[in-house]
Order: sequence, then C-alpha cells, then structure tokens
Amino acid sequence: MCGIVGYVGHRPALEVVLAGLRRLEYRGYDSAGVAVLNGRGELAVERKAGPLGNLEARLDEVGRERLAGTTGMGHTRWATHGAPTDRNAHPHRSAAGDVAVVHNGIVENYLPLRSEIEAAGIELTSATDSETVAHLVALAYAGGPTRGDLKAAVRAVARRLEGAFTLLITHAHHPGTIVAARRSSPLVLGLGTGETFLASDVAAFIEFTRDAVELGQDQIVTITRDGYSVTDFAGNAVEATPFEVTWDLAAAEKGGHEYFMLKEIEEQPAAVANTLRGHFVDHRIVLDEQRLSDQDLRDVDKVFVVACGTAYHSGLLAKYAIEHWTRLPVEVELASEFRYRDPVLDRCTLVVAISQSGETADTLEAIRHAKDQKARVLAICNTNGAQIPRESDAVIYTHAGPEIGVAATKTFTAQIAANYLVGLALAQARGTKYPDEVAREFRELAAMPEAVARTLESLETARSLGGELAGSKAVLFLGRHVGYPVALEGALKLKELAYMHAEAFAAGELKHGPIALIEEGLPVIVVMPSPKGRAVLHAKLLSNIQEIRARGARTVVIAEEGDETVWPFAQHLFEVPAVPTLLQPLVSTIPLQVIAAEIARARGYDVDRPRNLAKSVTVE
Ligand code: F6R
Repeated sequence: MCGIVGYVGHRPALEVVLAGLRRLEYRGYDSAGVAVLNGRGELAVERKAGPLGNLEARLDEVGRERLAGTTGMGHTRWATHGAPTDRNAHPHRSAAGDVAVVHNGIVENYLPLRSEIEAAGIELTSATDSETVAHLVALAYAGGPTRGDLKAAVRAVARRLEGAFTLLITHAHHPGTIVAARRSSPLVLGLGTGETFLASDVAAFIEFTRDAVELGQDQIVTITRDGYSVTDFAGNAVEATPFEVTWDLAAAEKGGHEYFMLKEIEEQPAAVANTLRGHFVDHRIVLDEQRLSDQDLRDVDKVFVVACGTAYHSGLLAKYAIEHWTRLPVEVELASEFRYRDPVLDRCTLVVAISQSGETADTLEAIRHAKDQKARVLAICNTNGAQIPRESDAVIYTHAGPEIGVAATKTFTAQIAANYLVGLALAQARGTKYPDEVAREFRELAAMPEAVARTLESLETARSLGGELAGSKAVLFLGRHVGYPVALEGALKLKELAYMHAEAFAAGELKHGPIALIEEGLPVIVVMPSPKGRAVLHAKLLSNIQEIRARGARTVVIAEEGDETVWPFAQHLFEVPAVPTLLQPLVSTIPLQVIAAEIARARGYDVDRPRNLAKSVTVE
C-alpha cells in the first residue's frame, strides 16, 4: 500500500522518481507527488490527487525545470487517513517548507502527535497521519539534543511513532541526502555507480541497477550518491544484506500486452514450472530453501494455513492435498481472524503462511502470533527477502516473477504448486506415501505447465462472453470439492475487476438457500469435476446445473475436454484438459481469470488498477 521512491545520484531526480512511481503505481493510485532538492537549498514539491498521469500533467503545466535536481523522492498513495485530495497527497512538508516526508503505513498515535504540534503553534494543512512526521522532524532538527542533526532527528521521531511505517525524509539543508526509517512496511535499497535508490519494491529501480540491499525492521538508512549507512533507532550501526535481483526489466513491463494482468495470465505455465524447479532431486522432494528437517516434519501433528484473499483460496486447496496425502488435520484460516480467536498451537503445529507480497499485515501478524505460541512457520512467498519469509522458520519461494496487475493471477497458480510441494514433502517425511507414489505425484504436477498452456490456447470465446455478461447485475459461481475454492477465486476476480456482485457457493449448498437467487437470465458459472476422476461429484453437479437451468439461469460451464454429458446444459462451454483431480484447479482457474478480465474490459475498467485496491495490504 503506497509506493515510495527515493533517489540520490547524478541523473535528473525527477525523471528517475517518476519512472519508479510508474512501476509502483500498482501499490496505490489515489494521488501522487514528488519532491526534489536542487542543491541550492531549495525543496520543490508537486502533488496531485488521482493517478500518476494527473501529476505528470501538473508538472507539464508548472514546468518540469522547477524540479531540477539530483536528489528526489516520490509517492503514490493508497489513502488511509484523509480523502484522496491534493492536500492529502504526499510529500508533506514542515511549516517552513524545509522538510519533506513521504510515508507508507499508518502512524497509529497520530492524534496526540497532532495535538502536540498544534500546541506548538503549528497549523496542520492536511487530514493525514503522515504530515505529523514532517513537523516532528522539523521541530527535532530545530532544537534540543538533535539540533542540526538530521539522522538523529529522524531517529528520535521514529522512536515516538506507533504503527507501521516506511518514511523517506529530505531536508533543504542536506542536499544529496535522504534519510529513511522503517518499521513493518517494505523498503529496499538499490546501489548504482554514483547513485543510490530507495523504494518499496525493486521494480522501481530495476531499470538502473540489480544490486539491492535488504533492510531490517526498526532501522534508519541514510543514502547519498556514494552509498548508504544503516543504524537501529538508537543509532547503533547494523549490517544489511546485499542481494541481486534475478529478474530483468522486461519482466516488469507489459511486453506488447494491453494490460499487465493479461501478460501475467499467459505467464502461468512458466510461473508453475519455475516454482517446481529444483524441488525434486534424486527422487526426493526437496524444499531447498527450508530450515525444517525431516524430523521437524515428522513431529508435526496439525497444520494451519493462514493467508488473505487469493492466497487464502490457494490455501483452501492445500487442505485437500495435504489431508489426502498425509492424513494430518489441516485448518485453513483467514489471517485477519486467526490470531484473534486464540487458536490451539504448539511446537508440533506447522503454520503455512501464504503471501505473494510477503508484506500483508494480517498474515505477518498471524505468523508472529504463531511463533509466540512456539509453532513452526513455513512461508510461501513470491517476493525475495520480504518480511514474512524473513520472520518465518522456512520459506518456499514461488518463482512467478513480478506481478504488477493488482489482481493476483500467476501467483495463485504458483501458490497451488508450492502448497502441493509442502504436502508431498510432509507425506515423504512421514511415510504416508511410498517414494514411488511421491515421485508419481510430482511427475503429474510437473506436467501441469503444459496443461495450463493448452488451456490458454482455447480461450478465444471468453472475449465475446465478456461483452455478453457485462450488463448482468450479478454472477454466481458453483463448484464442489477442489472446484469450490476455484469458484471462490473466480468470484473474487470478478468482484475486484468488474465491480459486479459475484458470489461463489459449494454446489451442495444450493438448495439450502442460494437457489432462491436464481432468476431468468442470471449468469451462473459452474466448475465441473472430472466425469472419470470424480464420477459421484460429477453426477451431483450435473443435477445442480439442471436445477438452475430449470429456473432460467444462463450457464457457463468449465468442464473436462470431451465431457459430453454437460453439453445439453451449457450455454457457454470452456473445455480444459483432463488432469488428476487435485490438479484440476490449475487449469479450471484460467478461464475464470480471463472471463473476469474480459467482463471488466467490456465494462470499460482498467483491469490492472481496480478501484479502491492496492497490491499489497500493509495495514490491518
Ligand atoms: C486478489 C488479491 C488479494 C491478495 C491478498 C493477499 O486478486 O490479489 O486478495 O491475494 O491481498 O496478498 P498477499 O498474497 O500479498 O499476502
């Protein structure tokens, strides 16, 4: 939530910062702003409500030369405190205009801080929590023990803040320097030659350097064009960990597609293949980045899966696979609910935390709670070095590459693959599957990228269907067994992209209430099980389709290739390759992603940047 970029170097900072903000806009697009220090002690700020394009138009209006300089920072906002207006846009400035601040997170104790600032005779000009920081830093810099020392002033202020924050701060008296403070919100550093970057995500500076540095919690980092220094909030020097960004600029660009999301949907075969790569060695599943031994896995007597949104839906699928393969009980819980209900956890509990971003505040707090109760935590994450894997005992990375579209697509299918690796590793360690069975399951999983690619080839009809369903008030989704989480995911995609009422039901629940919603012409998307793999469930769902057709529903059916039994009841049919039951979600999800995107496009919406959403939710 909110994207932040800072730059000190030899290039025009404004252009570097704007390029970074363009790549971070997925993190929030309520407003955008920039601040540039021009080396003559002048701090120029421009900010504008709405997407980044509005700010760029404003810059053209005032003249970009007004913001000439080689030290700058920028912000793209997802509003928490204060409406998305020009006044609430970042950067915020101190009363004298010599301090500028951009902030990601929430300063929870901002009300008493505002009162304190007002008591000092300063008038706040925005409704945000973030503005308080600009005034507090200016006050700390102006007097008292931290007088004239920007780093010390920022440390002193950081110690007083409650909540989550990444802050970048510049001071007109310190051209060529940005000081940043970080607690529970993302921040990475990029190192170039004669230039240094700070950003919420490496995507912001990948165009200039792949040499990055991971920063820890409760740290202050100061950058100049020649490098950086890191301390804790008390001023003690701390070591930071360098790493190389392994993907390139092309991965963060659209590559000829109209939207990132459409590109990312097509990248799913590679996302699944790359996630599986290196995890089956010498006929054994290897969770190679893990710090859990086979003995640790044997000691597990219960598994909790915690996640939010799409990642939670992938977790629901983990339950089917892990219980089936290991006979261990698995509970899947929304991370936001988990720690507030006192779950029963101990050192024999394995908590699997699934998060694309590795930053989601609810999931982070859930794993902290699990660790307090001595449970072991295994993260499944797509972002190298993010906070959730850092605080977990072990991690499996989904190598899906950067996902810029706000709606998760390729990371969902990659998460399913990673979840299944966890299930197989548990089954292998615990002996609930023979080695040759584990090998067979893995081979079937490893064949899925090809099946996903074939599914992608046969989706031309989704475009016309998008137009046809775009005028509907609502869409229902039905599934059974592993088709149920797929239906939930399909409904979530449609809600967030097309802003339509979309609801998913386990088809067995239909007659317990939801069937009352069926009326003439209502689109219902049905995820059919395989007629061979799940004959009993297939027969039941076939009856359900007939029940809704009889009441006038317009049916869109996702079914296995050659499943003729559904043809008479499907007004629209999407055929997916025949694959083993547990793996079916990897193919049946694909048409649902495409249908949601096409309905959204037919309704004229930006599928990469759905309203009110941000890619990573770093506040609870
Ligand atoms: C939906 C979507 C969200 C995320 C959720 C968790 O398309 O993207 O529901 O899945 O916010 O985010 P991560 O996986 O980053 O923890």
